[in-house]
Amino acid sequence: MRWRLSAGILPALVLALVLLLRFGPVAAQETPIIGYNAIHHPVVARHGMVVSADGIASRVGLEILRAGGNAVDAAVAVGFALAVTVPRAGNIGGGGFMLVYLAKEKRTVAIDYREMAPAAAGRDMFLDAAGNVDGRRSRFTHLASGVPGTVAGLLHALDRYGTMSRRQVMAPAIRLAREGFAIGFGLADSLKRAQQRLSRDADARAIFFKPDGGLYDYGETLVQRDLAATLSRIADQGAPGFYGGETARMIAAEMKAGGGLITTADLAAYRAVERQPVRGTFHGYEVVAMPPPSSGGVHIIEMLNILEGYRLRELGHNSARTIHLMAEAMKHAYADRSEYLGDPDFYTVPVARLTARDYAATIRASIDPERARPSTDIAPGRLAVYESPQTTHFSLMDRFGNAVSNTYTLNFSYGSGYVVKGAGFLLNNEMDDFSAKPGVPNAFGLLGNKANAIAPGKRPLSSMTPTLIFRDGKPVVVTGSPGGGRIINAVLQVALNVMAFDMNIAAAVAVPRIHHQWLPDVLWVEPGISPDTVRLLQSMGHHPRYSRSIGRTHSVAHDKNGFYGAADPRMPGALAIGY
Ligand code: DON
Repeated sequence: MRWRLSAGILPALVLALVLLLRFGPVAAQETPIIGYNAIHHPVVARHGMVVSADGIASRVGLEILRAGGNAVDAAVAVGFALAVTVPRAGNIGGGGFMLVYLAKEKRTVAIDYREMAPAAAGRDMFLDAAGNVDGRRSRFTHLASGVPGTVAGLLHALDRYGTMSRRQVMAPAIRLAREGFAIGFGLADSLKRAQQRLSRDADARAIFFKPDGGLYDYGETLVQRDLAATLSRIADQGAPGFYGGETARMIAAEMKAGGGLITTADLAAYRAVERQPVRGTFHGYEVVAMPPPSSGGVHIIEMLNILEGYRLRELGHNSARTIHLMAEAMKHAYADRSEYLGDPDFYTVPVARLTARDYAATIRASIDPERARPSTDIAPGRLAVYESPQTTHFSLMDRFGNAVSNTYTLNFSYGSGYVVKGAGFLLNNEMDDFSAKPGVPNAFGLLGNKANAIAPGKRPLSSMTPTLIFRDGKPVVVTGSPGGGRIINAVLQVALNVMAFDMNIAAAVAVPRIHHQWLPDVLWVEPGISPDTVRLLQSMGHHPRYSRSIGRTHSVAHDKNGFYGAADPRMPGALAIGY
């Protein structure tokens, strides 16, 4: 009897042991992340790293680092090079944000070079006679442009924190514009898609298409002579070479001819400003991100604060449970965004409150771990979502320990579609990022209120989220993303993948992402989230829908052994390169 019993138990014990070794304890506290780190490899280098959306621009940055420049010199060179090689998003006619970590001073600087509304702008400028928002005017006309900030921002960074001359860092961009460069797949494809819109403007048509109006092919050369001349004026004269003199006169003339508002006085008054970055912590890491007029940093911290209270690692990366908790945190953050965020020079944004741990704890207490809360229970509304690849982010680190995280944009792909006659660059349509009317969404389906109403000299609210992550006082991750309203969530997930799921930077950037922006009540998931996970999310009350790619998070990581670059695989042509 005894013998027969043990004969039955023994195989069962062996099987249990095999299963345990194969799959591990079911609810282990520290479930290892198996697989991701093994299948995604970052580019590794000892002295410095540049990651941008374009191979030519990344190489420009690398050459500056190799020539002895620091991360700021290289970032400024990349910023101007992208204005030539990625005209849909790289720009001198738009604006953005740059975070700079200065290793020597152990200090992070946040440079705000967001566009500003011209003096003649007004709260109701995009309303028609019936009081309805006219989206065409706020997106596809000369009225759509804010006063460009990119030149002021890049030169501010170079003057204060760079080591090289303007001419040195701008030389590659000028050469690329004057002599031309081989059109890559991404540019050829995006010009094809934008052909109709860009062909409406004679100056845009003349630059981006062949003399007969036809498309340039992959591998053909794009020369931009007017742009080369405009860049040369900036290299020679500094900011006054853009905000004054010939270029300013050309911008004002373009505005006058096209019914826009920007004057030479608006241009002369433009200033890039430094702001205090927002800060938070997560399981021993410090997260430093862009403050208002970006909404990104505030909401990244708010969501991290909420999510730190859960055992995410134990729940598993991209498990239905984890996605559910992220989505609930996202709904609250985006609802807050619509109410409280705007230009801090015009509206008191409750940054401290929104990033406070006790505030996050209140939100967490209201989250049901099993059930999705309908967005309409958080606030009413039904909106649409729009995204296309028109903003661009780049990340750099140098051998001195400095780091730069920069996101800049024209807003839409190729901005408003209008080129400044004679100056060869596209104008932004950033005015659409203002709230044209409370309760009416912008092109990204994002709602706003009086905090983000239009006013002269005001900067429209942004989602761009350049971000740095520190461990023991040293920068370990540099990241950010394009993607309109999806930017904040894309960056959040890269941060969580590193801080909660221990992924290497290439895995953190590559693995599938999700997005919820409160309204509409849709949980967007990238292909790669499994259908059975999607079904579980549905059973919890979510409304999942597969989506195109969510963000493109070109990132750098650093540890004692060196630098790790990860160009987002969602972006053809992007390149991580180090030395
Ligand atoms: O500042 C913002 O939030 C938007 N203008 C960014 C637009 C954008 O990222 C479009 N890109 N993919």
